[in-house]
Amino acid sequence: MARVDVIRVKGGAQLAGDVSVGGAKNSALKLMAVALLAQGRSVVENVPRITDIAIMAEVLRRLGCQVTLEGGHAIIDVPAEPGSEADYDLVRRLRASICVLGPLLARRGYVRVALPGGDMIGSRGLDMHFSGLTRMGAEISGEHGFVIAAAPRGLRGSKIWLDFPSVGATENLLMAAVLAKGVTEIDNAAREPEIVDICDMLTAMGARIGGAGSSTLTVEGVESLSPVTHRTVGDRIVGGTWAFATAMTRGDVTIHGVRPEYLDVALDKLVTAGAQVTLGENQFRVRMEQRPRAVDIVTLPFPGFATDLLPMAIGLAAVAEGASLITENIFDGRFMFVNEMVRLGADIRTDGHHAVVNGRERLSGAPVRATDIRAGAGLVIAGLCADGVTEVGEVHHIDRGYPDFVTDLAKLGVEVERADVPEPTFDF
Ligand code: EPU
Repeated sequence: MARVDVIRVKGGAQLAGDVSVGGAKNSALKLMAVALLAQGRSVVENVPRITDIAIMAEVLRRLGCQVTLEGGHAIIDVPAEPGSEADYDLVRRLRASICVLGPLLARRGYVRVALPGGDMIGSRGLDMHFSGLTRMGAEISGEHGFVIAAAPRGLRGSKIWLDFPSVGATENLLMAAVLAKGVTEIDNAAREPEIVDICDMLTAMGARIGGAGSSTLTVEGVESLSPVTHRTVGDRIVGGTWAFATAMTRGDVTIHGVRPEYLDVALDKLVTAGAQVTLGENQFRVRMEQRPRAVDIVTLPFPGFATDLLPMAIGLAAVAEGASLITENIFDGRFMFVNEMVRLGADIRTDGHHAVVNGRERLSGAPVRATDIRAGAGLVIAGLCADGVTEVGEVHHIDRGYPDFVTDLAKLGVEVERADVPEPTFDF
């Protein structure tokens, strides 16, 4: 009989204590791809112990790199001539592997990467990646589910306007531009802290980048880059998840390893909801003494409220006093998990990219299913505010973004267990 992992939480705990957050998944994955830009040994420190990092390590190994993951570091030895192909079996398990497109095109002049397809949070286009690389002189074509990019005469600097500040497109274009001939200007670039982290690593490698953290990035191409050791920025989404969980459970938690300025809007929303937030350097404390008040939240590219915290925003609204209007502007399928929240008794109605949530004093524990990383974490946390036991299935999604999630919950006072349960099979 097939078996599946579930997380069971007993509702009612008020989170209390300290929690440490490691490196950001969405930075570390890309920093590993940045390493491809220089021959030799680069070390990415503070990588989280999650499945996605192991898959990215495998992507790099298949490109001819030697990769060791140990002690929270990714040690990557890049050959003089890395491979130029990433297969569907890995890309479908890790959409982020599309980020090898830019660096490999820059180094090899040719790359063939499987198209990742859509997922449970939406359609996830790549048109801006392709049109930007085309402006830099690449020819892009597709066949048999692969995208093929070729720049036999090398990439050249160019002016690129993004229709939307896409994180992935900004990263791919940046990684291509650092070795292109001449100056590339990326306008309406993403400003996420993870982009700044990538710029920092690239600059340490010898790249010339201006405007990191602003919406105009100017990159002056150089001949070659040198390998470096770089420490990944803390994971603001994991930190924000703990912040919302604390507010929802009327707890008191200090979150270490995340710069609070990267969560400005999210923490301000918690203060509006009634929390006390104390800021420190690379840490912050959240305390909530009463039932949260309803707050309206709109997701936007950074510095706006992060879409990856949307399930936590819905969770907060579900137990808040009053009605909240939650608007999602980044992914067309981000509300897919809402029906699971409704199974926990949440009163949520969605219309297009808006959700109206009428808060309830308590939710009601039930078996539910994680549909993506953030929804999974959001459901477990909602379970903390529910009567009885909530069992969240398909927790492999959570494993992709939250190292030590169950251990951390237990340390903060939650009755929680991870269990391996048989999945019923039906004969036909
Ligand atoms: N988009 C296009 N065309 C493009 C690129 C993007 O239409 O060429 C659309 C996407 O379909 C989406 C929106 O633009 O609707 C935003 O996409 P973006 O490129 O900014 O996101 P991403 O790079 O695919 C990263 C994170 C996501 C995070 C978003 C937004 C990684 C591996 N993923 O995705 O993280 O939600 O930025 O901040 O860095 C997660 O960690 O759970 C997660 C989904």
